Amino acid sequence: MPSSRRDLLKILGIGIATGMATGSAAVPSVQTNSSPIRLDNNESAYGPSEKVVEAVRLAATEANRYPGAGVYELAERIAKSHNVSRGQVILGAGSTEILRMASCAFLGAGKQLVQPSPTFPALEFYARSSGAEVISDPLRRSGYHDLDAMLAHSGASTGLVYICNPNNPTGSITPRADLEKFISLLPSSCCILIDEAYHEYARPSSLYASFVDQPLQDPRIIVTRTFSHAYGLAGLRVGYGIASADVALRMRAFATADDVGTITVRAAIAALDDTASLQEVVKRNTDDHQEFQNSARSRSIKPLDSHGNFVAFDTFNPANMIIQHFRSNNVLIAPVSLAWDTWIRVSLGKREEMRAFWRTWDTLPIDKSAIRH
Ligand SMILES: Cc1ncc(COP(=O)(O)O)c(C=O)c1O
Repeated sequence: MPSSRRDLLKILGIGIATGMATGSAAVPSVQTNSSPIRLDNNESAYGPSEKVVEAVRLAATEANRYPGAGVYELAERIAKSHNVSRGQVILGAGSTEILRMASCAFLGAGKQLVQPSPTFPALEFYARSSGAEVISDPLRRSGYHDLDAMLAHSGASTGLVYICNPNNPTGSITPRADLEKFISLLPSSCCILIDEAYHEYARPSSLYASFVDQPLQDPRIIVTRTFSHAYGLAGLRVGYGIASADVALRMRAFATADDVGTITVRAAIAALDDTASLQEVVKRNTDDHQEFQNSARSRSIKPLDSHGNFVAFDTFNPANMIIQHFRSNNVLIAPVSLAWDTWIRVSLGKREEMRAFWRTWDTLPIDKSAIRH
């Protein structure tokens, strides 16, 4: 089991290796003797809301207690907010744990995972660990999932089909109408896991609708959500899945006992109650995107249209070299995938962090005229 998301990416061969050959000339560091600027994990740059911090403070005195009834309270709170029964809610230590449970329940030797590529790699990792075969269908140029290819590759031994919407690392959304048609044509024996980790950031559009908010009433569908991004709770590890009661039961059999801690439960409930802060987060993300676009445009960079708190774009240069240049300037950014080897993904940070990003970009020893669209 990898000890961190970075390790997990490395194991899958798409991580940024420290000490990778850089080819980049040394430039003055934009931030010295301090912790790095983290634009590599899509964490919230702004942290949890004040109300959540207060809930964490209060709960700290209960840290000696197992979470107990608090977990049921959180599941009940989530169930109410989505108009489902508590039995349909699967809690986990981040939505990564929900992905692991799905893999344990529906994959294994002789089974297949069908997924887009590039996408968030955790399910692929767990699928491979289980002995399942992984079929990865490249995204279309628009960033949409190639649903025709995914359908063609789904058959009797397909245990899970993974849809990541909005998709990480591209931020792209795949239209709801296309997804509905696709799901209706999939074999009745497979489950469809729809990862909505970035749902809160998805801009209102006729193309996008959450499968929790507008359910299909299809017992094969599992939707996952997380408190790690828009709610700013990545370090507390809490996420959830919504599924039919039967599927939820099958998945819960693989949960780690007491996976969601006492303080985490209180923080998650406070986060759900603090709707005003969530609205602010979404608004700020829109502004951050706009600022990024402005800075990118002035440098002829054309990022993909992103519905997340991050942006991916083609640098037309080796991504490894670019990432290493940023790293040596104390700014962490992420690769997109082995196949998209000139692309980088940048999580949106605070204004001063983004200034450091652009300062570092401007010192890159590359031919910027190669960035033409
Ligand atoms: C698409 C997607 N799904 C799931 C996760 C896992 O998040 P967590 O385990 O923190 O809930 C991430 C994290 O970056 C993600 O990008």
